[in-house]
Amino acid sequence: MPTKLSSKIIDFYPAVSCINLKNEKLFADVTAVAIPVGTDEKPKIAKTALVKNLTTFTNIDLNIELANWPEFTAKAGEIIEIPLSVGKLTRIYLVGIGEANLEDIRKASASLSRKVKGTDAKVLSALVEGKDLVETNVAALVLANYQFNMKSEKKLKRPTFLVYGDFKNEVERASIFAKATWRTRDLIHTPSNIKNPLWLANQAKSMVAASKNSALTIKIKSGAALKEFGGLLAVGNSSPKPGPRLIEISYSPKGSSNWSHVVMVGKGITFDTGGVSLKRPYEFMIGMKSDMAGAAAILSATIAMAELKPKVKITALLMCAENALSGTAQRPSDVIKHYGGTTVEVINTDAEGRLVLADGLAYADEELDPDYLIDVATLTGAATLGLGRQYAAMYTRDSALAKKIHVIGNNVGEKVWHMPLIDDYEVALESDIADLNHTADKYDFSAGSVTAALFLEKFVGKRKWVHFDIAGTGRSEVDAGENIKGGTGFATRLLIGWLDSI
Ligand code: BES
Ligand code: MN
Ligand code: ZN
Repeated sequence: MPTKLSSKIIDFYPAVSCINLKNEKLFADVTAVAIPVGTDEKPKIAKTALVKNLTTFTNIDLNIELANWPEFTAKAGEIIEIPLSVGKLTRIYLVGIGEANLEDIRKASASLSRKVKGTDAKVLSALVEGKDLVETNVAALVLANYQFNMKSEKKLKRPTFLVYGDFKNEVERASIFAKATWRTRDLIHTPSNIKNPLWLANQAKSMVAASKNSALTIKIKSGAALKEFGGLLAVGNSSPKPGPRLIEISYSPKGSSNWSHVVMVGKGITFDTGGVSLKRPYEFMIGMKSDMAGAAAILSATIAMAELKPKVKITALLMCAENALSGTAQRPSDVIKHYGGTTVEVINTDAEGRLVLADGLAYADEELDPDYLIDVATLTGAATLGLGRQYAAMYTRDSALAKKIHVIGNNVGEKVWHMPLIDDYEVALESDIADLNHTADKYDFSAGSVTAALFLEKFVGKRKWVHFDIAGTGRSEVDAGENIKGGTGFATRLLIGWLDSI
């Protein structure tokens, strides 16, 4: 069983490097070559040096091959597969790249990657020419190859990608993003009979140790150390030992005391049954091993800092608990006290995410003096109703920051939409007996993702705060593009991209 993630990553992860030979020797060692097909009026193969060399090497005129497929439009992701046998070379892929913009290169790269998934092909990929699109290209090649399985008999093959061009730095940078996303996915896909809060804490410890960067340190709070974290306890005490954990990872290199301090709080529910307010219909529960996707993304992004080394101080707070159904589970109508003293009337125990986050946000505000306070959570079904699975809901009062993050999201392939914190709905959080009711049920404004965000805002003090509701984007319902069915790793690339830009 893959209780050690690090070894699993090495087993599956496809190698990517770049190569810049100018002659036919290039083809001596690869089994496949991918050539881009753009479209002006009709699909056309550019006469690059590579294409000329390939023609000499194989004696195949690619434009004649192309003419055999009149229905091929060179739309991004369309592929013509030409079998051949010249030396080791057994395939030429003619890959449609549409208009060769970011989105099209992402689609085309993912599509090529899927062609060779589960094989040991050695692929020379020449889909992009300039440096600008290499990171998109490489990340998509790697991520579309993601696999997770726990079958007892494993015969896994993985391809190798050689990107054509002088792109060493870009390939390395893209690999940091892709590898981190890969890790997030491994954590999400691990089933909840293995993945409890203690398991997550141990994974985090070994990831910190493996990073071999002394700027990364980790502390785990459990038991009595959590006594002031009323939300985390109320949710997590539903599950017998090992119980809830607060994983605190800090990235603070020499000199970082003068830099911006970012605190990131992640929802780490290792399984969400709904608790006493049991989830119905029960099929809704199947995906709930993913309910720690926010914490996982924050964890991998923080670990990636050891390689990227940006000038920013980071604290990650992973709020880990299982929302189980048991005799020690909290009840609807319980009143709990969060870190910092705010009392909350629990209405529906299935709205557990905001309870664990509230403690993390209040703790960050009171103890850690953040310049930016971020949270990431698979928080509400309503976020998916509003935006579907392609855009995450982003809430913040800082529109300049929202714009910046929106652009980064488009670039890295994790899109976000700036949603409104609607002040008029705040009255719904009133409670007759506590400071707040936690599901905003005093009035019905039918805006579950917005009212959840308004609840969280009560705990951020005066901090510059951004909340990401990734309930929709955290899981994919289809095996397509960069994603397999299941955890996407959403927010990993977004956070790394943003942290690196501060
Ligand atoms: N983890 C769920 C939200 C969720 C739903 C994530 C579907 C991914 C896919 C969360 O804990 C939850 O149950 N939210 C409730 C809140 C409600 C009871 C106020 C919801 O959205 O239905
Ligand atoms: Mn829930
Ligand atoms: Zn949940």
